[in-house]
Amino acid sequence: KENLLKKIISHAKEYGFVFPSSEIYDGLSAVYDYGQNGVGLKNNIKAYWWKSMVQLHENIVGIDAAIFMHPTTWKASGHVDAFNDPLIDNKDSKKRYRADVLIEDHIAKIENKIKKEVTKAAKRFGDDFDEAQFRSTNPRVLQNQEKIDTINQRFKASIENEDFGDLKALIEELEIADPVSGSKNWTDVRQFNLMFSTELGSLAEGANKIYLRPETAQGIFVNFLNVQKTGRMKIPFGIAQIGKAFRNEIIARQFIFRMREFEQMEMQFFVKPGEELQWYESWKKKRLEWHKALGFDESNYRFHDHLNLAHYANAACDIEFNFPMGFKELEGIHSRTDFDLKAHEEYSGKKLQFFDPQENQSYVPYVIETSIGLDRMFLAVLSSAYTEETLADGSERTVLKLPPILAPVKVAILPLVNKDGLPEKSREILDLLKYDYNCQYDFKDAIGRRYRRQDAIGTPLCVTVDAQTLVDDTVTLRHRDSMEQERVAIGALNDRINELVAF
Ligand code: GAP
Repeated sequence: KENLLKKIISHAKEYGFVFPSSEIYDGLSAVYDYGQNGVGLKNNIKAYWWKSMVQLHENIVGIDAAIFMHPTTWKASGHVDAFNDPLIDNKDSKKRYRADVLIEDHIAKIENKIKKEVTKAAKRFGDDFDEAQFRSTNPRVLQNQEKIDTINQRFKASIENEDFGDLKALIEELEIADPVSGSKNWTDVRQFNLMFSTELGSLAEGANKIYLRPETAQGIFVNFLNVQKTGRMKIPFGIAQIGKAFRNEIIARQFIFRMREFEQMEMQFFVKPGEELQWYESWKKKRLEWHKALGFDESNYRFHDHLNLAHYANAACDIEFNFPMGFKELEGIHSRTDFDLKAHEEYSGKKLQFFDPQENQSYVPYVIETSIGLDRMFLAVLSSAYTEETLADGSERTVLKLPPILAPVKVAILPLVNKDGLPEKSREILDLLKYDYNCQYDFKDAIGRRYRRQDAIGTPLCVTVDAQTLVDDTVTLRHRDSMEQERVAIGALNDRINELVAF
């Protein structure tokens, strides 16, 4: 699977989906640019989300708030005081790590030992193997499980109490070594805020420290009343937004999974206090259905319910996706109570309440949040779609089996040969289709190679124009996945394509 991630990274680069940022200067860590096909796929994912969240819900509207916000926003939201990672440096290698990740990796290693033990026993006992019983009786498994429990307990306590001295002590006691150099010579653990800051106005005028937003959600909270009043919205209603967010992530790895500049698609759904848990359940269900409707392997999605809730949440889960690196968070669904709106009331001194005519009273609504990373969704789509196939004639092809609605190019128009009036006829067809679909015209190389190029970017349909086209005004329509071809009259082409690629 690790190999798969490497393949996807190089395919994404070779075919104009994702490039390292400012690559001619050797790139910028955890920052990426989307190329000519990447931007198409990304825009189509956005449209798929926007359409299903905003267009199909009469009680959800969209906004586009600014990236810069009044700095007090981030005091109220808790980001100034609590959006921190505990960091530790290795004195010998000078490498920097997240202390919590070092400990989690250590725990994962012990878990692996247990797994190996279980697999070995399962082989030995065959059909008679009872895993639960084995785990509760085997002395080596029990010993390792006890180790994990003890580490976990201490780890959680030190994070909760912000006792970084103990976090360092734990790393030393577990003899955790720097994965690069093997050295166990650590600095103290210290806090590092993940928000990027900059200054508003020139220094001469008195600089004001402001932040690049680390989530889009706060732009929705501070606009809650503006939207409710001007849109005459009644509870329950939602506000949706797609936009950039910035986090100074310490560990840059796993391609576009963890970036420093990324995009979020978030929706805040405002409900009557007391009704939040039923809305939470219904959004959980709806969001999973949204993912599954794309038609990828359903076993790649699972819920991960949070047992340790953040102080502002009364229910929370992630939708995890089976990325090439394993199951990881793709989307978060949180019941955030009235925490954010109340905090903004407190810090701004302005009321953020809804007058409920049925109840004849005002209240601060509760909030269900659905929050998905656009770039993570992009990676999920790319890794689901990436397929290597051996064809009947023994040749190989790499094809992106993208859902047609997400494909950056919907139709390629290909003259079989670049002469005899075929290019002219092909351009006529291109002019006919280009207003409705993103099309690509390609005449270079043999037709087989041109098909492969379209397969590699996930184009669902190729229209091939040949000598017969000039005689009877029909073309060949070639399907990406089955590679089957059908003959279609030019006059019927638009309807047929629409049937195959429209929303
Ligand atoms: N408003 C809630 C919020 O921001 P989060 O779990 O911190 O919650 C939501 O982020 C989603 O944003 C995640 O599920 C993930 O898909 C995406 N995300 C978060 N940090 C990211 C990063 N550094 N790079 C790419 N995507 C990220």
